[in-house]
Amino acid sequence: MKKISIVGSGTMGTGIAQIAATYGHEVCLYDSSNEAIKNSKHKIEKILNRLVEKERISQQEKENINSRINFTTDLEDIQESVLVIEAIIEDLNIKQDLFSKIERIIDKDCIIASNTSSLSIASIAAACKKSGRVIGIHFFNPAPLMPLVEIIPAVQTTTETLNTARSIIDSWNKITVIAKDTPGFIVNRVARPFYGESLRIYEEGIADFATIDWAMREIGGFRMGPFELMDYIGNDVNYMVTETVFTTFYFDSRYKPSFTQKRMMEAGYLGRKSGKGYYDYTTEERPLANEDRDLGKIILWRILCMLINEAADAFFLKIATKEDIDLAMTKGVNYPKGLLVWADEIGIKNVLTQLEELQAEYGEERYRPSPILRRMIKENKTFY
Ligand SMILES: NC(=O)c1ccc[n+]([C@@H]2O[C@H](COP(=O)([O-])OP(=O)(O)OC[C@H]3O[C@@H](n4cnc5c(N)ncnc54)[C@H](O)[C@@H]3O)[C@@H](O)[C@H]2O)c1
Repeated sequence: MKKISIVGSGTMGTGIAQIAATYGHEVCLYDSSNEAIKNSKHKIEKILNRLVEKERISQQEKENINSRINFTTDLEDIQESVLVIEAIIEDLNIKQDLFSKIERIIDKDCIIASNTSSLSIASIAAACKKSGRVIGIHFFNPAPLMPLVEIIPAVQTTTETLNTARSIIDSWNKITVIAKDTPGFIVNRVARPFYGESLRIYEEGIADFATIDWAMREIGGFRMGPFELMDYIGNDVNYMVTETVFTTFYFDSRYKPSFTQKRMMEAGYLGRKSGKGYYDYTTEERPLANEDRDLGKIILWRILCMLINEAADAFFLKIATKEDIDLAMTKGVNYPKGLLVWADEIGIKNVLTQLEELQAEYGEERYRPSPILRRMIKENKTFY
């Protein structure tokens, strides 16, 4: 099997290495830190042991997977790979420096991919002489469990690079979607209102965390409520994604971060990992939701219309196909339904009316409807 190299053995690199080795590749897992390599080895060992215990893989398979991974702190070991996936710290200068080093070591046909969540692939590719072989391959955490992978060709990326990269990731039984090289790609862009509008509803005093979470779970069918999910992701991580999307969209107020979340982050109320976030994780007790279904429907409707508007606008601006936008949200963040399918079901006219009412009431840009909604109504069209 072809050799795959992973550069950066942290959370994401370790998960990606596990997948590649499971699918039979010889894997080189590099990190500049000995400590990171040690931790990664330990983590893979622990995960594979658990899979053996659960009888998902045999002891022999575990040994085979382990034997395929070469852990190293010598970057030269990535030679003879068909694909190198970079998953180091999210810093453009450091990534660019690494990409130019990688390019000097690898074979002429090797593809170099970045797992970046927020940097432009074009800017990373610009560090390489043969920038056509650079592409974004964005896994979700935990990489071995999350089915979605966003593939992001930069303006420099060749069609051959795109096709080869996609076919390798498809062969790992992942669901791949193609996204334009724009901030947040698909998922981290379209999902913003799930957090932002929920925070806004709380800030206005319409409902508390528990009630908003209840409405989204029980009436909306989402697996987790927005506040539970922010606590799970970490308020630091989730806030930083929002801030990056906001600044990289030239401060479009649609993506404006929330002071509520910023203060939680500043206070160290990061969520589950710190023991406290919107909820207190040092006790089993949870505040009770106000299970008023009429209020719940108002909450769901407002957040859902904002999500649909974001998905529609991503389609309008050709960030991805409508099918890929819906797949991304159902497979990347477990939404109960694709947002554009959902729009057709509840009626585009109804979505537009809600957005227009919010915009009229608040006079804020964040509620501006995507032009595609008005156009579709005029032309009597649906998404599907
Ligand atoms: N954690 C997530 O949920 C998530 C999801 C999708 C994408 N990403 C992206 O994946 C990348 C990695 O994220 P992570 O959460 O795995 O980070 P992490 O902090 O867990 O791991 C980063 C690793 O990179 C190593 N490293 C740093 N600089 C290096 C260098 N110059 N050369 C070699 N190794 C170096 C560190 O030692 C560390 O082991 C980032 O670009 C991030 O945006 C993260």
